[in-house]
Amino acid sequence: MVTQKQIQTLALALRPETVLLAFEGEIRSGKTVDMIQIFHEAVYYNPGELHAICGRDYNAIRDNLLKCNGFGLLDRFSDVDYGKEKIGGYFLTMKGYDGHTKQILLAGYDKVNQWEAILGKTINVILVDECNIADKTFIDECWARQASADKPLMLYTLNGDNPDHPIYTDYINYCKPLGQVPPETLAEMDKYPNKKGYYYYHWKMTDNPAMTPEKIERARSIYPKDSYYYKIKVLGLRGTPEGAIFAQYLDDSFTSPTVEVVYRAAKQNMDECEYLLKTGQYIKYAIGIDLGNNDAKRGTVLSLIGITRGYKNLDVIDATDCQSTESNALVHEICTHIQMWHNEIQNLNAIDSIRIDGFGAVQILIPTIRKELINRKIRTLTDLAIKFGDSAGRKARLDLNLLMISRKVLRWSQRPGAQKSRAMFKKLKYADDGLPFDENQAEMDWYDSEGYAITPFATTLTNALRWYNE
Ligand SMILES: Nc1ncnc2c1ncn2[C@@H]1O[C@H](COP(=O)(O)OP(=O)(O)OP(=O)(O)O)[C@@H](O)[C@H]1O
Ligand SMILES: [Mg+2]
Repeated sequence: MVTQKQIQTLALALRPETVLLAFEGEIRSGKTVDMIQIFHEAVYYNPGELHAICGRDYNAIRDNLLKCNGFGLLDRFSDVDYGKEKIGGYFLTMKGYDGHTKQILLAGYDKVNQWEAILGKTINVILVDECNIADKTFIDECWARQASADKPLMLYTLNGDNPDHPIYTDYINYCKPLGQVPPETLAEMDKYPNKKGYYYYHWKMTDNPAMTPEKIERARSIYPKDSYYYKIKVLGLRGTPEGAIFAQYLDDSFTSPTVEVVYRAAKQNMDECEYLLKTGQYIKYAIGIDLGNNDAKRGTVLSLIGITRGYKNLDVIDATDCQSTESNALVHEICTHIQMWHNEIQNLNAIDSIRIDGFGAVQILIPTIRKELINRKIRTLTDLAIKFGDSAGRKARLDLNLLMISRKVLRWSQRPGAQKSRAMFKKLKYADDGLPFDENQAEMDWYDSEGYAITPFATTLTNALRWYNE
């Protein structure tokens, strides 16, 4: 379905003087879908040959821009196809109004080696999806690529972010705001003069014809009310993260309850997590290890998590920190903890993996840990938890933890180690960039070790909780 706003924004994008069109606003408000259509038309009418689509990485580009539930560039426009020869990365092709072939480069801004797709070229129409999570140097490079273009056009989409973010102070604040814009956003933009050809629209879920009142209700409930994420994502407003990230939510209701069960032929009261563990009812387990910083002589933390049927709960069953600092002693201590947990798990085939990351010498320790585990007859995949290593990944992890807390999926068992993990989560504070403030404090080690443990399930969990597959 085509809305009035889509027609207006398309007409504006195709005007000769337009050089920047920025869409900011609420999640699922149709910003990306509208931008894809604008991009397609703008490329079609552009005299230049090279154009680019930029997203976090190739997966994000494929899911959000090329497919996008059937609304993506490849699914929606039959004239767009994958390019044949390799020209420094992936690209698409389509025919323009002039009968010439247009090339659309695909660039992930998350990893510098994917930027190569755009370096040193003249690029005309550029779409940067979620432009606020891209590096400033990447954003500036995109503008530099357009410097010699005949008809440059920059297209941005984003949720709210910190008002001091350079994407606002260098570019977006110079836009002329059009349509309905929240007053606090207008006030920020009013401090800057308008540049010719720079335009801005704010988007709300009600702008998206696919969003029924029930879906809007559900979308609003995915982040805790009054949280920073609620403000920037659900309301699409700008805001500065401050104070505690989780403390205000993590009350005792996040400890697994005591339930009355029949265990070994006797009726008894038991911590529900304990019961699920003892009766082999978790469908998946994983262990996350954050290896410490040797200078600080501490900081190695292990977490054991379990997932209940249907991904209803993700439980931190136990967690612990290590005392050893010397490498051999540390490996021994780590493996002893793993062995203790291993002995408690009834359904060993449900163990997914052991995920490790941390400070410095991780690569050297992993083979030693693997060897020691095999000596102890523990044959679980032991590997790096690299998925969350980069900054966009750290945002994704925080996002997932907030989603799990808001939906009451994440729980901690009654064990002292698990309770310490919950207490450490409560200590985490925001830094200016919206990520946890990280100066190697103890709470970061506990948070990271849970983060590494959830890595294998991150995509499944995020999709389930964001109900992208509704
Ligand atoms: N005009 C439309 N007609 C029908 N369905 C639409 C339309 N626009 C968007 N949708 C549906 O809504 C979903 C969300 O839209 P979109 O991805 O563009 O939101 P967004 O504002 O970019 O959200 P986010 O901030 O989370 O990236 C799309 O996957 C699509 O299924
Ligand atoms: Mg989007």
